[in-house]
Amino acid sequence: MMEPLLQELLSPVRDEVEEMSRFFERELAAPSAVLRELVGHLSRYKGKRLRGTEVLLVGKAFGPLGPEHVPVAAIVEMIHTATLVHDDVLDVASLRRGLASVNARYGNPTAVLLGDYIYAKAFHLSTGLRSQVASRLLAETTRTVCRGEIEQTAARYDFDLTEARYLELIDMKTASLHGAACELGARYAGEGEETALAVRGFGRDLGRAFQIVDDCLDLEGDERIVGKSLGTDVSEGKITLPVVHLLAGLSPRERLRVREIYLAEGIADRAATLAAEFDLRPGIEYAIQCADGSSRKALESLERLPAGPCRDALASLAEYVLCRRS
Ligand code: IPE
Ligand code: IPE
Ligand code: MG
Ligand code: MG
Repeated sequence: MMEPLLQELLSPVRDEVEEMSRFFERELAAPSAVLRELVGHLSRYKGKRLRGTEVLLVGKAFGPLGPEHVPVAAIVEMIHTATLVHDDVLDVASLRRGLASVNARYGNPTAVLLGDYIYAKAFHLSTGLRSQVASRLLAETTRTVCRGEIEQTAARYDFDLTEARYLELIDMKTASLHGAACELGARYAGEGEETALAVRGFGRDLGRAFQIVDDCLDLEGDERIVGKSLGTDVSEGKITLPVVHLLAGLSPRERLRVREIYLAEGIADRAATLAAEFDLRPGIEYAIQCADGSSRKALESLERLPAGPCRDALASLAEYVLCRRS
């Protein structure tokens, strides 16, 4: 179920979002029974389509959408879907978008290959567009997302992780794709460098806020509402902003206990144990304040967009990411 606020803010591009979804499904239509099964699983598996919506809202803020906005939006959503299919392998997650994750249902080898298959499809589609802007930007952005996931994996169980490094990691793995989605919306509307960079800034700041909130939901959200496995940041060794903040205020002995909760054998639910033994509230509140700062910064970049319903919807999106529950 989509949250009502999100439903409402999609309204200026509702028809185009549906067109994007049809394009997505048509292009991923499967050439064999095995792929039909896998792609069928994915098509029951609806996300919020935020990044595709960002392409469409930014594009339409500048006037009627061009013929390539819908394909570009669908390609961005494909890339995002591929990263999620891979991410659930990395995070050993079993639930995604309210359904079994691909890895849980079909195993890791299939999930790795299906993620690759979707990336390949997305890049093939992008090379068929009249301009190379999307191909170039999305290839570079996907590299950045992968770099973020790789460097985050290398930083697992680093209890000295700083806030600055945490922000670099989330900017790479999450904010970069939101930035690219917004930039492409502007570029495919014929906008020049200066505007493209400003809207990219909007997407990046919004994406940063989005991931900080995601990291709070991982600690305190409800799986039935969020629709994906939670607690995996702690179980897989990720030190997120609320935990960076928690660690900074602890004695050496308490820090050792946190390390033990992350690492010792025989702890069934590490996130629940952490929450039972430590007060996570101040760290979560601190993180939400940072997300709020990032969302405000995003709103400032919107001043460059022509006023109208699309700009208003983008402003609401920057606020929605702070209060989302799924
Ligand atoms: C999940 O993104 C991955 C993160 C960057 C936290 P979304 O919450 O936008 O995923 P869907 O597409 O709605 O499932
Ligand atoms: C992953 O972050 C973001 C990606 C770039 C895929 P998370 O691991 O927090 O995303 P979720 O919580 O599984 O959606
Ligand atoms: Mg994950
Ligand atoms: Mg998460």
